[in-house]
Amino acid sequence: MNMKSGALGLALLGLVSAMALAGGRPDQVPFPEGYSTGFKNYVTRNRANGKPEIAKIFANETAQQSVMAGGQPAPGSVLVMEIYKAAMDAAGKPIKDGEGNFKRGELSGIAVMQKRTDWPADYVAADRAGDWGFALYDSRGQPKANELACAGCHQPFKNQDFVLTYLKLVGIGK
Ligand code: HEC
Repeated sequence: MNMKSGALGLALLGLVSAMALAGGRPDQVPFPEGYSTGFKNYVTRNRANGKPEIAKIFANETAQQSVMAGGQPAPGSVLVMEIYKAAMDAAGKPIKDGEGNFKRGELSGIAVMQKRTDWPADYVAADRAGDWGFALYDSRGQPKANELACAGCHQPFKNQDFVLTYLKLVGIGK
C-alpha cells in the first residue's frame, strides 16, 4: 500500500466509524439477508413518530421461538423494521385506508436490532440498549448515514426488553 491510499483508507475508516456512532453500528450488526422471506412479519402499523410513515416489523426464528416458549428474546434474536414513506395522493396528502393505515410508498430504510451477550468491548453499553445492538440500512441493504440516537430512544424501555413493539412480539403464536 502506498502512502496516499493508506491515508485515504484511514480517512474513510474515520468517516465510517463517525457515521456508525451517530446511529447504530453496521460494522457490528449485519444486514440480515433474506429476512423478508425467512422472518415473521409480526406487526405492520403507522409509525409512532407522527410522520406519514409505515413500520413493517419482522422477527427471526430465534426471537419467535423464545417468545413462544414464554421467555424474552434470546441471544441471537434479530428484529427488522422496514420503514416506508406513505404513498401520496395528487394533492400531496398521504393516502389512508378505512382504518387510518397509510398506504405503503417507497421503502426508505431498514432498521435492525440484534441481541448478543458477547459484543466486542468497543461496542460499549452506552451505545446499546441492554444486549441489543442497532444498525440502519437503505433499501438495498447498504449502511445508511443518519443522526438517530438509536440506543437513547430504546434504552428507557428496559421493562419490555427495549423492544417498543414488545406486546406484539410476545403475542406471536397466540
Ligand atoms: C425517536 C425515538 C427512536 C429512535 C431515535 C430510534 N427508534 Fe427504533 N423504534 C422507536 C419506536 C417508537 C418504535 C416502534 C415502531 C414505531 O411505531 O415507530 C421502534 C421500533 C424499532 C424496531 C422494531 C422493534 C421494536 O423495538 O419495536 C427496530 C428494529 C428499531 N426500532 C431499530 C432502530 C434503529 C436501528 C435506530 C437507529 C438508527 C432506532 N431504532 C432509533 C423509536 C426510536
